[in-house]
Parts: sequence; structure tokens; C-alpha cells
Amino acid sequence: MKKPIVIGNLKMNLTAELGREYIKGFLPFMEHVSESEIVLAPSYTVLPLLAPEIRGSQLQLAAQNMHWEDAGAYTGEISPVLIKEAGCQWVILGHSERRQYFGETYTHVRRKLESAFRHKIVPVVCLGETLAVRRAGRTFQIVEDQIDEVLKGLKPKQAAGTVLAYEPIWAIGTGKTASPWQANEVHHFIRNKIETLFGKPTAAEIRILYGGSVNPENCEALIQESEIDGFLVGGASQKEETFQKIISCVEENWKMKKSKKLRQRLK
Ligand code: 13P
Repeated sequence: MKKPIVIGNLKMNLTAELGREYIKGFLPFMEHVSESEIVLAPSYTVLPLLAPEIRGSQLQLAAQNMHWEDAGAYTGEISPVLIKEAGCQWVILGHSERRQYFGETYTHVRRKLESAFRHKIVPVVCLGETLAVRRAGRTFQIVEDQIDEVLKGLKPKQAAGTVLAYEPIWAIGTGKTASPWQANEVHHFIRNKIETLFGKPTAAEIRILYGGSVNPENCEALIQESEIDGFLVGGASQKEETFQKIISCVEENWKMKKSKKLRQRLK
């Protein structure tokens, strides 16, 4: 059975000094993690400092973005080669803050995704609608367009190895989480779309995360939903204790999900 994923997107928040402290408190906790893949995404400058500290643990590192080219005259950018050298096995692509503030489009995201495959970096592609789109009843249409632009034409194996993160923009940093039902409905839609594009096994294998004001209070109801395979956490990952609570919640509930699936199979 696939493993759930919990990613802490620390955005532009963690300094090197705080990062080292964070990790010190975090590594003993990681020894008890058995069900999930746990990934931290600090700033680029912090990545190479944390990489040696986490060596030998199950904790993994992600970059929050990258360019699609390996090298070249792209002032201010960072390449897949450089993030790998800094210790990353994962990369977050197309986060709504990149799209909103830096003009990133899904055409860019597609090029970055292909580059991530070339470099064997696990891509986490963000999808999601604005409040205006949701109010206009166009959520499914927008999410479908995003999937088409980023994933169409990939090989099923590449699609299965891509992690999707449904992050409704109106829920990011606002304290307004999507209700478990709202999130699951979109996740279900995304999985059906993946099935249409790539077939049933890929749809079953692909992991779809939820992101947007996830915290220790709301994570249990969300992870209990059938289509949610983990979380992309922003604000609540800045404190180790709250992030650990979310991870523990995913761990416990995943064990229950697994035994439920096993029981269903044995029936
Ligand atoms: P918050 O959890 O702070 O809403 O941020 C979510 C997010 O953007 C993760 O990528």
C-alpha cells in the first residue's frame, strides 16, 4: 500500500540557526515514524546546512521551487542540479504563491516537472482554485485545466510518481480550511481525471495531498477521508510540536485506513 506524505513548507521563515534547533528536536521524533514519508522544505540557504544533520534519518528535504534548466544565465534562479547538491530529493512546483506573486504559469510548471523527472527529484505539483472561482462554481473546471496543462502526455509511470497537492488558494494562510467533504470531493475529482488520462493503476497509485490551514485540530477529520493521502503544511509546520502532532495524527489514522482496506479485501 502507498505511503502517506506530510510536507512542511516553511516558506521564507526559517533561519539557519532556527533550522538547526528545529532539526535537533525533530530527529528523535522521526525514529517513531513508520507509516509516512516526512519532508521539510526550508529556504535554499538552509538546505545544505540541514542535509548533513538529517543524514541517516528518514527525514527528507524539498526545495520550494526550481528552474527547469540545469545551468545558465538565469539570475536569481536555482537549478535542479543545485538543489540536489544541497541535499534535496523533492521539489514543490507551481505553489500558488509562485503563481500569484512571480507570474509562474502551468507552462513553466510543466517544464519544471520534466526537469524533475530527468534529475530523479520527486515533484509535488500544487493545484487549486481562488475564492472567486469557487464562488462561480468553476472549481472542477479550473483544476481540470491545471491537470491537463501539467500532466497531459506524460507516461503513466511518470504520472504515478508525481505527487499532487490540492491547495485551495482561499484556504492558504487564512485559517479557513476546506471542510473534509469539500477537500475529498476535489480529490475524488482529481483521481477520476488521472484515471481518464492514465488508467486505473496510476489513479490508485498517485498520492494526492491536501494543503491550506491544516493544523492539529482539523487534520484528523481530513485524513480520515478516503481520497486524502497526506498534507502540505504551511504555518503549522513552523513549530516542531504542531508539525509533529499533525504527523502523529496521519500515522495513527493511516494504520486504521490500512486495516480497514485489508478487512474489505478479505471480505
Ligand atoms: P498554510 O498551512 O499556512 O495555510 O499554508 C499552506 C501552504 O501554502 C503549504 O504549501
